[in-house]
Amino acid sequence: MSHEEFPTDRPAVVTCGLPYANGDLHIGHLRTYVGGDVYARALRKLGQETAFVSGSDMHGTPVAVNAEQEGVSPEAFALEWHETYEATFPKFGVDFDNYGHTHDATNVETTTELVRTLEENGHVYEKEIMVAYDPAEEQSLPDRYVEGTCPYCGARARGDECDEGCGRHLEPGEIEDPESTITGNPAEYREQTHKFFRVSDFQEYLGEFIDRLEGTPNARNQPREWIEGELRDWCITRDMDWGIDYPSEESDLVLYVWVDAPIEYLSSTKQYTERVGADVFDWAEAWKGSPDEHGESGGEIVHVIGRDIIQHHTVFWPAMLRGADYDEPRAVMASGFITLNGEGFSTSRNRAVWADEYLDEGFEPDLLRYYLATNGGFQQDVDFSWERFRERVNNELVGTVGNFAYRSLLFAYREFGGTPDADLSPEVRERIEDAVDDFAAAVNDYSVRDAGDAAVALAGFGNEYIQQNEPWNLVDDDPERAAQVLRDCVQVAKAVAVLFAPVAPDTCERLWSQVGGEGSVHDVTVDAALEAPAATFDEPDELYEKIPAERVEELNAKLDERVEAAASGTDESEADEGDADGDVAADEATLDLDPLEAERIGFEEFESLDVRVGEILEAEGIEGADKLARLVVDIGVEERQIVAGIKQLHDLEALPGTRVIVLANLERAELFGVESNGMVLAAGEEADLLTTVDDAVPGERVR
Ligand code: 2FM
Ligand code: ZN
Repeated sequence: MSHEEFPTDRPAVVTCGLPYANGDLHIGHLRTYVGGDVYARALRKLGQETAFVSGSDMHGTPVAVNAEQEGVSPEAFALEWHETYEATFPKFGVDFDNYGHTHDATNVETTTELVRTLEENGHVYEKEIMVAYDPAEEQSLPDRYVEGTCPYCGARARGDECDEGCGRHLEPGEIEDPESTITGNPAEYREQTHKFFRVSDFQEYLGEFIDRLEGTPNARNQPREWIEGELRDWCITRDMDWGIDYPSEESDLVLYVWVDAPIEYLSSTKQYTERVGADVFDWAEAWKGSPDEHGESGGEIVHVIGRDIIQHHTVFWPAMLRGADYDEPRAVMASGFITLNGEGFSTSRNRAVWADEYLDEGFEPDLLRYYLATNGGFQQDVDFSWERFRERVNNELVGTVGNFAYRSLLFAYREFGGTPDADLSPEVRERIEDAVDDFAAAVNDYSVRDAGDAAVALAGFGNEYIQQNEPWNLVDDDPERAAQVLRDCVQVAKAVAVLFAPVAPDTCERLWSQVGGEGSVHDVTVDAALEAPAATFDEPDELYEKIPAERVEELNAKLDERVEAAASGTDESEADEGDADGDVAADEATLDLDPLEAERIGFEEFESLDVRVGEILEAEGIEGADKLARLVVDIGVEERQIVAGIKQLHDLEALPGTRVIVLANLERAELFGVESNGMVLAAGEEADLLTTVDDAVPGERVR
């Protein structure tokens, strides 16, 4: 941890990546917004002064192309979607303090000022470059107006990003075999003068910044390669009409959408200050606090984004902030993708659970929030299925949280009319204190899942506690003991309301009022978890309802029907309207799965693999190698040095102690001059390390 622990006495700003205002939201999009909202609420619970801001991303080709297809102006098109998003987020409890948009006056002004400062500080220059051009249409083809082949990985790519391949940002003129997306014709390259931001001025700074940056390991590790390699300058202008004008009289160009989009984080915070007053929240203190000479932030800026936009938030954006004399982000939390029944969401195939549809089905927002926030670590890919949704709601929300709260409070209400008159027992006090510590540790570890788990585990403890102590058998023979047990249970229920509120704001507000809490649970901090509950309260009702199995069948059938209708062209839904873009966080994640091996192997062949349980003892990056790390792994019979390609994908410092699975009889190899004696098994692009779920000890064979 390179910064002071939360809560600090500086203001925090939690931001969420701006959705392009160009299409319907589905539940995959919501992962980042729910994650950001949970995190902002959790910070406030620790007593951290926090603003939670975002806005719609109105400019650029993602909007212009879709507006053109609809035959409307980009402004009218984007504004309509902006209004829809503004109304949709609160329905999921995503409660921004300010939700602006990049085309509003504040952002135009802030962007203009910031770009001028970059110019004044000497970080912008002009250069002639070749840009794609459609001769038939007589127009330039920026970004999504051109497609072709990625020069780095050979995948089909858009003009400014290799969205289906290596994920790199592409500069104008880089894409090979360019084709116009307007006419489908091959594009030409023509010379044009553009403005460039000299990112290379910040190479040294960014190297230090990335060492300080906190957040999810992917956001801290992935950019190292770019920052340590050759930092190419960044073209910040585009030849199109829709966007913020480049602030110079001689230029007809607009700013590249990725310049004014993150500046909305600043503008949105400013608008919040304008609304509530600087005495309540001062944007300038947060963004232009008093950074010391090492460039640390005056405020605690935490960016919550999808993992496809890590480069923009850890290279271009911090360089812009630095170059224009603003403070730097403290942390970047980058979420994994989300799939639906194991396959990517697809707006064009109507293969999605739409945000409105979820609500129309009558489900509470808290259920989805719980699923999205805790079904996997924030940086992990998460699969959504109605079946898994039902399981988690029924087992964890109904079975653990709801069941505990309802039976404790109902019994306390019936026997005592509220909280029995007894002191909290030391054992239960300690258990609540531990839960509060776990919650605080989760926030400092940027783990929304662990924050949610801390509350659910406490409810699980409450369930066991009431079950073991059976107050219903004590009321007659030992009323004092019954009072003690129920006093403890009511306190646990109150603590659950406090700690679970960031994940499940609506149901915890109800639970808070059920324990007789005053005001709103969202206005109290974790200290309230141990404050005495009200002496009297009303009869409680159940917090959550079970989802019957038939509902899942029904919902799956609806989804299948829709996908079929879209495939056969008989889809009458709004799905293709606006062709919601694939760029927000987790949209259009495609799991490009290898086909199964056609050839089977015999058991003997499998037996010849010596696969063991191991425990990582040491982990360090190999100097000069971008991706390799040297691990020392205890495999029971001996310790092994193993080289693994996980340098940028894992927080190496956090790995010691992790249980892994090792192929022990792989031939030795030498990589970057380091001997590798075995292989640590991992799954997928992110090298998700295979581990054991129970207590298999190092050295045990995997069969
Ligand atoms: O990739 C996207 O969806 C962009 N609209 C995200 C912008 S985030 C930020 F920097 F503003
Ligand atoms: Zn590529």
